[in-house]
Amino acid sequence: MREITAKELNINPITAISEEWMLITAGTEAGYNTMTASWGHIGSIWGRRSFGMGTAICYVRPQRYTKEFIDREEYYTLTFFPAEYKDKLGYLGAHSGRDEDKVGKVGLTPVFGDGYTYFAEASLVLVCRKLYQAPMLEEHFVDKSVVEDHYKAKDFHDMYIGEIVKILVQD
Ligand SMILES: Cc1cc2nc3c(=O)[nH]c(=O)nc-3n(C[C@H](O)[C@H](O)[C@H](O)COP(=O)(O)O)c2cc1C
Repeated sequence: MREITAKELNINPITAISEEWMLITAGTEAGYNTMTASWGHIGSIWGRRSFGMGTAICYVRPQRYTKEFIDREEYYTLTFFPAEYKDKLGYLGAHSGRDEDKVGKVGLTPVFGDGYTYFAEASLVLVCRKLYQAPMLEEHFVDKSVVEDHYKAKDFHDMYIGEIVKILVQD
Protein backbone atom coordinates (compact mmCIF):
# COMPACT_ATOMS: atom_id res chain seq x y z
CA MET A 1 0.00 0.00 0.00
CA ARG A 2 1.08 3.58 -0.61
CA GLU A 3 1.03 6.39 1.92
CA ILE A 4 -0.81 9.57 0.87
CA THR A 5 -1.59 12.94 2.48
CA ALA A 6 -5.04 14.13 3.52
CA LYS A 7 -5.07 16.47 0.50
CA GLU A 8 -4.88 13.45 -1.79
CA LEU A 9 -7.73 11.63 -0.04
CA ASN A 10 -10.57 11.30 -2.50
CA ILE A 11 -13.63 9.74 -0.89
CA ASN A 12 -17.12 10.80 0.05
CA PRO A 13 -16.94 10.16 3.82
CA ILE A 14 -20.72 10.05 4.25
CA THR A 15 -21.39 7.32 1.71
CA ALA A 16 -18.08 5.52 2.34
CA ILE A 17 -18.97 5.03 6.01
CA SER A 18 -22.75 4.73 5.95
CA GLU A 19 -23.25 2.76 2.72
CA GLU A 20 -19.99 0.94 2.00
CA TRP A 21 -19.06 0.46 5.68
CA MET A 22 -15.66 0.18 7.34
CA LEU A 23 -13.83 -2.02 9.81
CA ILE A 24 -12.66 -0.70 13.15
CA THR A 25 -9.62 -2.70 14.23
CA ALA A 26 -7.42 -2.47 17.30
CA GLY A 27 -4.61 -4.56 18.72
CA THR A 28 -1.37 -6.03 17.49
CA GLU A 29 0.09 -9.33 16.32
CA ALA A 30 -0.13 -10.46 19.95
CA GLY A 31 -3.90 -10.08 19.75
CA TYR A 32 -6.35 -7.92 17.82
CA ASN A 33 -10.00 -7.76 16.92
CA THR A 34 -12.12 -6.11 14.28
CA MET A 35 -15.75 -5.18 13.73
CA THR A 36 -17.85 -3.56 11.05
CA ALA A 37 -19.13 -0.01 11.49
CA SER A 38 -21.42 2.20 9.47
CA TRP A 39 -21.42 5.16 11.82
CA GLY A 40 -18.49 7.55 12.08
CA HIS A 41 -17.03 10.84 10.93
CA ILE A 42 -13.90 12.06 9.18
CA GLY A 43 -13.03 15.73 9.66
CA SER A 44 -11.06 18.09 11.78
CA ILE A 45 -10.83 19.34 15.37
CA TRP A 46 -8.20 20.87 17.66
CA GLY A 47 -6.00 22.15 14.88
CA ARG A 48 -4.84 18.66 14.03
CA ARG A 49 -5.23 19.71 10.40
CA SER A 50 -2.03 21.66 10.98
CA PHE A 51 -0.32 18.28 10.88
CA GLY A 52 -2.15 17.77 7.59
CA MET A 53 -4.05 14.66 8.47
CA GLY A 54 -7.35 15.51 10.21
CA THR A 55 -9.27 13.43 12.73
CA ALA A 56 -11.67 10.50 12.58
CA ILE A 57 -14.44 9.47 14.97
CA CYS A 58 -15.96 6.06 15.55
CA TYR A 59 -18.74 4.91 17.86
CA VAL A 60 -18.57 1.57 19.67
CA ARG A 61 -21.18 -0.04 21.92
CA PRO A 62 -20.01 -1.39 25.28
CA GLN A 63 -20.72 -5.04 24.46
CA ARG A 64 -18.37 -5.20 21.45
CA TYR A 65 -15.27 -7.36 21.95
CA THR A 66 -13.36 -4.91 19.76
CA LYS A 67 -13.95 -2.23 22.42
CA GLU A 68 -11.64 -4.05 24.84
CA PHE A 69 -8.83 -3.71 22.29
CA ILE A 70 -9.58 -0.08 21.42
CA ASP A 71 -9.62 0.78 25.12
CA ARG A 72 -6.24 -0.71 25.88
CA GLU A 73 -4.36 0.30 22.72
CA GLU A 74 -3.03 3.69 21.66
CA TYR A 75 -4.17 3.26 18.05
CA TYR A 76 -7.12 1.99 16.07
CA THR A 77 -7.52 1.70 12.31
CA LEU A 78 -10.47 2.39 10.05
CA THR A 79 -10.30 0.31 6.87
CA PHE A 80 -12.43 0.59 3.74
CA PHE A 81 -12.81 -2.10 1.08
CA PRO A 82 -13.83 -2.60 -2.56
CA ALA A 83 -17.54 -3.34 -3.05
CA GLU A 84 -17.00 -7.10 -3.48
CA TYR A 85 -15.92 -7.36 0.18
CA LYS A 86 -19.28 -6.24 1.53
CA ASP A 87 -20.43 -9.79 2.37
CA LYS A 88 -17.30 -10.25 4.45
CA LEU A 89 -17.94 -6.98 6.26
CA GLY A 90 -21.51 -8.16 6.87
CA TYR A 91 -20.14 -11.32 8.48
CA LEU A 92 -17.63 -9.42 10.63
CA GLY A 93 -20.49 -7.21 11.81
CA ALA A 94 -22.75 -10.10 12.76
CA HIS A 95 -20.29 -12.35 14.63
CA SER A 96 -18.02 -11.70 17.58
CA GLY A 97 -14.31 -12.35 17.80
CA ARG A 98 -15.10 -13.61 21.30
CA ASP A 99 -16.64 -16.72 19.77
CA GLU A 100 -14.56 -17.53 16.70
CA ASP A 101 -11.67 -16.58 14.43
CA LYS A 102 -13.96 -14.53 12.22
CA VAL A 103 -11.12 -12.85 10.31
CA GLY A 104 -9.73 -16.27 9.37
CA LYS A 105 -13.22 -17.37 8.39
CA VAL A 106 -13.75 -14.53 5.90
CA GLY A 107 -10.17 -14.81 4.67
CA LEU A 108 -8.83 -11.31 5.27
CA THR A 109 -5.08 -10.89 5.70
CA PRO A 110 -3.98 -8.90 8.76
CA VAL A 111 -1.04 -6.55 8.36
CA PHE A 112 0.71 -5.61 11.59
CA GLY A 113 2.11 -2.11 11.99
CA ASP A 114 3.79 -0.61 15.02
CA GLY A 115 0.93 -0.86 17.52
CA TYR A 116 -1.91 -1.27 15.03
CA THR A 117 -3.40 -3.74 12.57
CA TYR A 118 -5.08 -3.34 9.19
CA PHE A 119 -5.92 -5.62 6.27
CA ALA A 120 -3.98 -6.19 3.05
CA GLU A 121 -7.22 -6.25 1.01
CA ALA A 122 -8.28 -2.74 2.11
CA SER A 123 -8.56 0.03 -0.47
CA LEU A 124 -8.03 2.70 2.20
CA VAL A 125 -6.57 2.61 5.70
CA LEU A 126 -6.75 5.41 8.27
CA VAL A 127 -4.42 4.81 11.20
CA CYS A 128 -5.75 6.78 14.17
CA ARG A 129 -4.15 7.67 17.49
CA LYS A 130 -6.71 8.04 20.27
CA LEU A 131 -7.15 11.60 21.50
CA TYR A 132 -10.51 11.48 23.25
CA GLN A 133 -12.97 8.88 24.46
CA ALA A 134 -16.36 9.51 26.02
CA PRO A 135 -19.61 7.64 26.53
CA MET A 136 -22.71 9.16 25.00
CA LEU A 137 -25.01 10.15 27.84
CA GLU A 138 -28.80 9.84 27.72
CA GLU A 139 -29.35 13.28 29.26
CA HIS A 140 -27.33 14.89 26.47
CA PHE A 141 -29.65 13.81 23.67
CA VAL A 142 -31.52 16.91 22.55
CA ASP A 143 -33.85 14.82 20.38
CA LYS A 144 -34.95 12.03 22.69
CA SER A 145 -36.41 10.06 19.78
CA VAL A 146 -32.81 9.01 18.95
CA VAL A 147 -32.66 7.24 22.32
CA GLU A 148 -36.00 5.62 21.64
CA ASP A 149 -34.87 4.51 18.16
CA HIS A 150 -31.33 3.31 18.91
CA TYR A 151 -30.80 2.77 22.64
CA LYS A 152 -33.73 0.73 23.96
CA ALA A 153 -31.15 -1.37 25.86
CA LYS A 154 -29.42 1.82 27.11
CA ASP A 155 -26.21 0.55 25.52
CA PHE A 156 -24.91 3.97 24.61
CA HIS A 157 -21.86 4.10 22.35
CA ASP A 158 -18.47 5.28 23.43
CA MET A 159 -17.18 7.92 21.06
CA TYR A 160 -13.50 7.83 20.07
CA ILE A 161 -11.83 10.80 18.40
CA GLY A 162 -8.54 9.85 16.80
CA GLU A 163 -5.81 11.86 15.15
CA ILE A 164 -5.19 10.40 11.70
CA VAL A 165 -1.47 9.68 11.73
CA LYS A 166 -1.20 7.70 8.50
CA ILE A 167 -3.32 7.26 5.37
CA LEU A 168 -2.65 4.28 3.10
CA VAL A 169 -4.27 3.48 -0.24
CA GLN A 170 -4.12 0.53 -2.59
CA ASP A 171 -2.66 1.30 -6.00
C1 LIG B 1 -23.36 -2.65 8.70
C2 LIG B 1 -23.03 -2.73 10.16
C3 LIG B 1 -22.67 -1.57 10.83
C4 LIG B 1 -22.35 -1.60 12.19
N1 LIG B 1 -21.97 -0.44 12.82
C5 LIG B 1 -21.62 -0.47 14.13
C6 LIG B 1 -21.14 0.72 14.77
O1 LIG B 1 -20.97 1.81 14.16
N2 LIG B 1 -20.86 0.65 16.10
C7 LIG B 1 -21.02 -0.52 16.81
O2 LIG B 1 -20.76 -0.55 18.04
N3 LIG B 1 -21.43 -1.68 16.21
C8 LIG B 1 -21.71 -1.67 14.89
N4 LIG B 1 -22.08 -2.83 14.26
C9 LIG B 1 -22.16 -4.09 15.02
C10 LIG B 1 -20.79 -4.80 15.21
O3 LIG B 1 -20.04 -4.80 14.02
C11 LIG B 1 -21.06 -6.25 15.64
O4 LIG B 1 -21.75 -6.26 16.87
C12 LIG B 1 -19.84 -7.12 15.68
O5 LIG B 1 -20.25 -8.47 15.68
C13 LIG B 1 -18.96 -6.86 16.89
O6 LIG B 1 -17.89 -7.76 16.85
P1 LIG B 1 -16.89 -8.02 18.07
O7 LIG B 1 -17.73 -8.51 19.25
O8 LIG B 1 -15.96 -9.06 17.55
O9 LIG B 1 -16.25 -6.72 18.37
C14 LIG B 1 -22.40 -2.83 12.91
C15 LIG B 1 -22.76 -4.01 12.22
C16 LIG B 1 -23.05 -3.97 10.87
C17 LIG B 1 -23.41 -5.23 10.14
